[in-house]
Amino acid sequence: MKIVLIGFMGTGKTTVAPILAKKLGLNVIEMDDLITDKAGKSIKQIFAESGEAGFRELEVAVGKDLQNIDSVVISTGGGVVMNEIILDNLKNNSIIIDLSATFNNVLKRISPKIPRPLFEDKDKAQELYELRKPLYKKFANIQVSTDGKTVNEVVDDIIARINL
Ligand code: S3P
Repeated sequence: MKIVLIGFMGTGKTTVAPILAKKLGLNVIEMDDLITDKAGKSIKQIFAESGEAGFRELEVAVGKDLQNIDSVVISTGGGVVMNEIILDNLKNNSIIIDLSATFNNVLKRISPKIPRPLFEDKDKAQELYELRKPLYKKFANIQVSTDGKTVNEVVDDIIARINL
């Protein structure tokens, strides 16, 4: 089984993925970690040196590397929906789950400790949120709201929705 978590920054993908994986006996992969490993640089550095385009190129390459992987929960970066090819590579035999949240809740959850080049300006982030909203819906097999829920409640919701 392959579960791919998509959703905007701050919707809980990174927090939910390991707990979901543990409950289902699956491995967990954080795409952003593979990107920083591949580049040998932090996300902040990649954006500063190569721009968003450079980051997206790495994201596409990592998506390709993960094409044939199985028994895993993959936590993606919020921007994977910007490049159709990434989810095309990941969607084989997989369930794509969109973790959703209102923009207000996203704002509350975003930690200033983790640098997010595309979340430095609140208004621009909100524009991006609105722009991407239909894309998460389009690519997802299932949408699970994380609003007002604990991580365990989200995990239980996901498991119930995928009928395990
Ligand atoms: C991005 C989201 C980030 C990270 C990068 C770009 C985006 O991941 O991949 O900063 O375009 O939404 P998270 O969604 O885990 O914050």
